[in-house]
Amino acid sequence: MKNHWNKVYSSKETTQLGWYEESPEKSLELIDKCHVNKDNKVLDVGTGASTLIDNLIKRGYNKIIAADISEEALNKLKARLGEKASSVTFIVDNLTAPEHLNDLKDIMIWHDRAVLHFLTGKSERDAYLSLLSQVVRIGGYVIIAAFSLEGAPKCSGLDVKRYDVNMIQDFLGSNFILKEHFNYLYNMPSGDKRPYVYTLFQRIQNDKWK
Ligand SMILES: C[S@@+](CC[C@H](N)C(=O)[O-])C[C@H]1O[C@@H](n2cnc3c(N)ncnc32)[C@H](O)[C@@H]1O
Repeated sequence: MKNHWNKVYSSKETTQLGWYEESPEKSLELIDKCHVNKDNKVLDVGTGASTLIDNLIKRGYNKIIAADISEEALNKLKARLGEKASSVTFIVDNLTAPEHLNDLKDIMIWHDRAVLHFLTGKSERDAYLSLLSQVVRIGGYVIIAAFSLEGAPKCSGLDVKRYDVNMIQDFLGSNFILKEHFNYLYNMPSGDKRPYVYTLFQRIQNDKWK
């Protein structure tokens, strides 16, 4: 997977990637709804070279963590941010076999756009949920945007598992309360369209994972 994603990021301009957003409005809309203090930790998992990070910096968040399996992606992001990169922690790691991400704690916002849907094996999804449950604080928020049931069966040449809001709720379990959700039709740089489901949850208790 690491090789796949490194190849993708080294062979294409960021703006030509099938998931590129000039302005990640829908993610920002949900992040704004959390109304959290800007000193809280915000973790963008599978961040790639996303413009979300530029926007979080602009909004004044000062504990931003950008994580991805691909160092090529994070290097591109760093280069684009220039001096502003110093206010971001970059972590190269695999969400499904973490070696560094599991050292994090007190994450107030976990953001995932177009990452969970690549985890087609149950053991991978279990590992993702175990990490999320370990690092997101009680009262913290989880934003997951994934291909919806009407969406494409593949992305970046890889099979995906598509979701609706109930499937994401079932996946997270009863410790996560649904606060908001909507469908969104994303326009790819190629002009094709990709239907997504966007979800925002809040973590309410910690009886399962200590
Ligand atoms: C479709 S891209 C989305 C990038 C970004 N979230 C955005 O919205 O622009 C999926 C990203 O997830 C990363 N990724 C895929 N599998 C991963 C894993 N197991 N651990 C960490 N990152 C992963 C890829 O390197 C890629 O940057």
